[in-house]
Amino acid sequence: MKTPLKGVFNGAFDTVDNIKISPFSRAYTFSDSVYEVVPFFNSTAIAFDDHIKRLEFSASQLAMAVDLKEVIFEINSLITSSEFSNGYVYYQVTRGVDPLRSHIHEPNLKTETFGYAKAHLFQWKPLRVSVCDDIRWGRCDIKSTSLLGNVMNMNAAKLDNCDEVIMHKDNLLTEGGASNLFFVKNDLICTPALNGNILPGITRALLINELKNYSIEVIEDNFRLEDLSNASCAWLTSATKGLAPISEISNLESHLDLYHPLFKKSEEIFNKKFLS
Ligand code: PDD
Repeated sequence: MKTPLKGVFNGAFDTVDNIKISPFSRAYTFSDSVYEVVPFFNSTAIAFDDHIKRLEFSASQLAMAVDLKEVIFEINSLITSSEFSNGYVYYQVTRGVDPLRSHIHEPNLKTETFGYAKAHLFQWKPLRVSVCDDIRWGRCDIKSTSLLGNVMNMNAAKLDNCDEVIMHKDNLLTEGGASNLFFVKNDLICTPALNGNILPGITRALLINELKNYSIEVIEDNFRLEDLSNASCAWLTSATKGLAPISEISNLESHLDLYHPLFKKSEEIFNKKFLS
């Protein structure tokens, strides 16, 4: 029998199966929610403060009240009480339950929170991806659960046996469906610059900072599909993928080396700092 997932809903710890949510929760009717995925290794959260700061930012953009002390306590409790030492915590903060569905919410709703811990290992898994139009809204810097654009693009790519997508707006590269993009061009590591079109990924920032300590520069700029086509290797980063190299782009001419020295070096530096 599968061990039930352990979760927490509005401060009460229980198995996820026992949690009941109102259909008038604004998470359900409007995806009026923000979230974090906090990875942990050897029972210690990776970059916990950064995840909390990003959650605070996301909630502030939606003018949503959040008790960060409580969030920190609950995420820590999920990690320390889990039977596994490597995994992640999914944690969502929702505006609350309206008396009736209405775009304009009632004032002072009680914020609803939900989290669970899941066992997970960073595995070396080369990805087949496809490139696609970034059909999302203009505030992708907010880590909101409104992810329909990502969901539609990733499921369309799945039909082409792809694990992920790389999105672009009018040829300008943005990010993966659930990850940030890096690639090597002319022996330089490049990544799209932060703006409203991409999520400021924590893994992205950790990697850039750690590479700096080894005097390896990462160019953050506007890049185009042609840059990816001319790249000698590319990888995606996220809290659940770590650094995942791209083996193939199904619908773009490219020549990607899975074992490129700059990728191997980045992976070695990242794993040494965060996964050992
Ligand atoms: N997603 N961009 C998008 C659109 C994402 O959904 C994610 C992460 C990232 C990478 O961010 P970070 O390094 O902080 O995980 C970039 C999480 C893992 C998810 O939704 O499951």
